[in-house]
Amino acid sequence: MYTKEEEKRLIEKTRQLLKISIKDIKTKEEARKIAEELREVIKYHDWRYYVLANPVISDYEYDKLFHLLIEIEEKYPDLITPDSPTQRVASGLTKEFPPVRHLAPMLSLENSYNEDDLRDFDRRVKEITKRTEIEYSVEPKFDGAGIALVYENNLFIRGATRGDGVVGEDITPNLKVIKTIPLSADFKRYGIKTIEIRGEVLIRKDLFKKINQERLEEGLPPFANPRNAAAGSLRLQNPKEVAKRGLEAFVYQITYAVDENGNNLLGTKLKKHHESIKMLYELGFKSPYKEIKVCENIDEVIDYCNEWQEKRDSYPYEIDGMVIKVNDISLYDILGATSHHPRWAIAFKFRARQATTRLLDVVFQVGRTGAVTPVGKLEPVEIGGVTVSSVSLINEDFIKEKDIRIGDLLLIERAGDVIPYVVKVIKEARTGNEKPIVFPKYCPSCGSPLVKPPGEAVWRCVNANCPAQVKERIAHFASKDAMDIRGLGPRIVERFYDLGLLRTIPDIYRLDFEKIKQLEGFGEKSAENLRKSIEESKHRPIHRLIYGLGIRYVGQVTARTLAENIKCVEELEDWTIEQLESLEDIGYVVAKSIYDFFHNEQNIKMIHELKELGVQTCKEEKEEEGKLKDMTFVFTGTLSCCSREKAKEMVETLGGKVSNSVSHKTTYLVVGETPGSKLAKAQKLGIKTLNEEQFLELVKS
Ligand code: IVH
Repeated sequence: MYTKEEEKRLIEKTRQLLKISIKDIKTKEEARKIAEELREVIKYHDWRYYVLANPVISDYEYDKLFHLLIEIEEKYPDLITPDSPTQRVASGLTKEFPPVRHLAPMLSLENSYNEDDLRDFDRRVKEITKRTEIEYSVEPKFDGAGIALVYENNLFIRGATRGDGVVGEDITPNLKVIKTIPLSADFKRYGIKTIEIRGEVLIRKDLFKKINQERLEEGLPPFANPRNAAAGSLRLQNPKEVAKRGLEAFVYQITYAVDENGNNLLGTKLKKHHESIKMLYELGFKSPYKEIKVCENIDEVIDYCNEWQEKRDSYPYEIDGMVIKVNDISLYDILGATSHHPRWAIAFKFRARQATTRLLDVVFQVGRTGAVTPVGKLEPVEIGGVTVSSVSLINEDFIKEKDIRIGDLLLIERAGDVIPYVVKVIKEARTGNEKPIVFPKYCPSCGSPLVKPPGEAVWRCVNANCPAQVKERIAHFASKDAMDIRGLGPRIVERFYDLGLLRTIPDIYRLDFEKIKQLEGFGEKSAENLRKSIEESKHRPIHRLIYGLGIRYVGQVTARTLAENIKCVEELEDWTIEQLESLEDIGYVVAKSIYDFFHNEQNIKMIHELKELGVQTCKEEKEEEGKLKDMTFVFTGTLSCCSREKAKEMVETLGGKVSNSVSHKTTYLVVGETPGSKLAKAQKLGIKTLNEEQFLELVKS
């Protein structure tokens, strides 16, 4: 379709066009030229995206180009050409799943990025409908894989991907394994015979992190973001594999609904969008019922969008914006649609989380287990409000597979609190001056030869006294999720190490504060604060200590499992591999690693030293026989006091248990803001509920 030379030129052109805004265009002639260029590059990017499924720019950058073209065409309507990308939906399908025609075309959404865009939208809606007041419903824009579900006579008969918007791919068997998609639902109660519902398949962010952690441990490349994980899982050829991925589906729009006689129910029987969402919720679907807000006017809409922009990161699913819909469905027909999007809805996009930038250099970092990680140094680029200047290149295999070279233009993504990730190399932008990344043979910190055990993807420094490893181990021990020693971050650890103040983990408890006080940047006060937080850390629950020891493969979850089964950390010195393997979720590799750790003389010496220095290695009495003993707590909704993790820890410290689902065994359901379906279930079972205040009272007293 395009030669290499053409692609290079188009990418270069794209980068120039991205710098232009409508205000820079002074004459019509200039507008004509830029519009032509925009059409040419957009066509190219459509092809990369839809046909090759391999884009070379971020969605945000694409939108920016598209938006500029729309602005030019709005200003000079006679410049519109019939083949302008604004006049059609791009197509192109893959062949693995049978094609299926949607009952209603699966259009996209128009995007907006600021208040002005939303006010323009409001103005247009009012103009077309000739109304002075418009009610909107606003809900999150889920960032997953779009689907369309068809139910007939109450049965789920077909589910499809978006495809080209007219024809999608039939992925019914894969969708049937998703538990949030009911296989039947009582639509007849509402007089509906056939209905098509739009939705999105997603993976919870926490589960996504876990999947990636497991993939990394197995030496598989991680997924870039939850969307890719969801979309990739949906296209697996084996539904059994799909079932293991923990996918969920949210439904958010009814696009077709008819009764026994074929009468359209949209706008007549189904009058308001928010009511249709509630109906879907009541029929057993997962829908944004609790997130949706009916707004009286555009000011309320703007406030609600801003509110969500702030809380985006704490929402359990990845969302990339909000969707604003005219609430009165009977206005949909009047407003109509372009070939690209309906005029009764608009997306408000949050700050973008992808960007392209240059890889300037690669440095090699030695982690606490000796693993050598290549870290790419980038030309700084802003992603989602954060400046990104470095990115992990994972390991040698990852670099080889993506063929990353120094000087390359990279597409980087930073999704939520996920660390930045290289989505791909824009190879088409290569000049020929890119340099291969050469892996070191010797440890960049201590100079020992690196080793790569057979079957592993990671090069390691096996010198346990390697300064880089020791620093990392100390910093990990002090980190927030481990012993939580405020004021002892990686930089300070490095400084203390280099000054000879801190050479081992137990040295933390022997620090000479007289010397620290004299250091530049430290004073009486900060030295005293550090001393206090070190002192406090001596009494952390033992699962934190276990996690802080930095045993390979022992993350926070495994550390908790171990802690639940012992009274004192030293007991682990006597555990056999078989005993360890008998614990929940601990397999041979992890068991062997724990066993090896507790059979290493240096490690045992360290644990005993810590104990002598006053670090608690045994559970405190109250941890064991706490006041919440024999009680099981379940949480729903968001707590304002603290994270779920913290609340869980409070319960466990007092001897209680925390479970994820409500059952007869539940003692209390703790209800935070915007509770989920657990509340209804608890009420049905007659389980006692506590609000946040009551819960805090209980754990405090
Ligand atoms: S309404 C005809 N509501 O975003 C418009 N779409 O970028 C029907 N999306 O194609 C879509 N969350 O796949 C709607 N709450 C939501 C959504 C949503 C995510 C997706 C959808 C759409 C895409 C446009």
